[in-house]
Amino acid sequence: LGKNIHYEESVGSTQKIASRLVLEGAPEGTIVIAEEQVAGRGRMDRSWHSPKYTGIWMSVILRPNIPPQKAPQLTLITAVAVVQAMEEAGLHPAIKWPNDILLNGKKATGILTELQADADRIQAVIIGIGINVNQKHEDYPEELQSIATSMSIEAGKPLDRAQILQHVLYHLEKLYLLYLDKGFQPIKLLWESYAITIGKKITARSISETIHGKALGITEDGVLLIEDESGKQHHIYSADIEL
Ligand code: BTN
Repeated sequence: LGKNIHYEESVGSTQKIASRLVLEGAPEGTIVIAEEQVAGRGRMDRSWHSPKYTGIWMSVILRPNIPPQKAPQLTLITAVAVVQAMEEAGLHPAIKWPNDILLNGKKATGILTELQADADRIQAVIIGIGINVNQKHEDYPEELQSIATSMSIEAGKPLDRAQILQHVLYHLEKLYLLYLDKGFQPIKLLWESYAITIGKKITARSISETIHGKALGITEDGVLLIEDESGKQHHIYSADIEL
C-alpha cells in the first residue's frame, strides 16, 4: 500500500478524487491524502470536519477479488489497523460498530467504505479514513466538543502525523494480506477483542427502525447481530448505535 501516493494541499473530498482515479485505472494500494478537506464526507450523508494540518484525511484504493457483499469486512479490517496504530502511540482505543474508533468514549476516527462494483464483482473499494490527530478541544465546533476527540487531546501532547500514517498503512497492509490469505476469521477475532459493543445492551437506530437489545457479535460478513427482549435475533446492516 502507498507505492502510489496522491498528495494534495486542499480538496473537496479525498473519496471523490479516489473514485476518479479508479476510473482512470489506478492500481491497488493507491492512496489519496490531503491536508484539508472542504467537503469531507461521513457516513449516512453527514459531513466530516477536516481542518487543515490537523488530521489524516485519506482514501485507500483496494481491488480485492471478493463478492460485493463481503466489502463491509474491509471496513472492519481498517478499523483494526487504525486501532493498532493508535496503540503504538500509547493510546487505548475501542471500536464501536461498525467503524467508529473511540478514545475515552469519544470519536477519534471515522471510516467510510465505498464500492465501485457490478452485480457480482468488485471493481474497487475506496476506504476513506479520517483520523483526528492534532486538533485541540477548542478547535471543534461546539456541537462536536462533547462527542469528538483527537489522539493528541488524549495523549496530552502533539503527535507526528507522518509517523501515524506510516503505522496505519503498515498494519492495514499486513491485515489485508492476512485476510486475502486466511479469510476473515482471524480478523473477526481481533476486531471483537477491541469492540465495546459486544455483550452490551444497545439501541440500533436506522432509517427504517429502532431496535433495543443485546449485541451478540458480528457475522462473517461484518453484520451486527442483536437479540431483543423476546429473544428474536436481528441482523443489522447499517445503523447508529447507542450504548
Ligand atoms: C464517518 O462518518 O464516521 C466516516 C468519516 C470518514 C471521513 C474520511 S476523511 C477521508 C475520506 N474522505 C472523505 O470525504 N471522507 C473520508
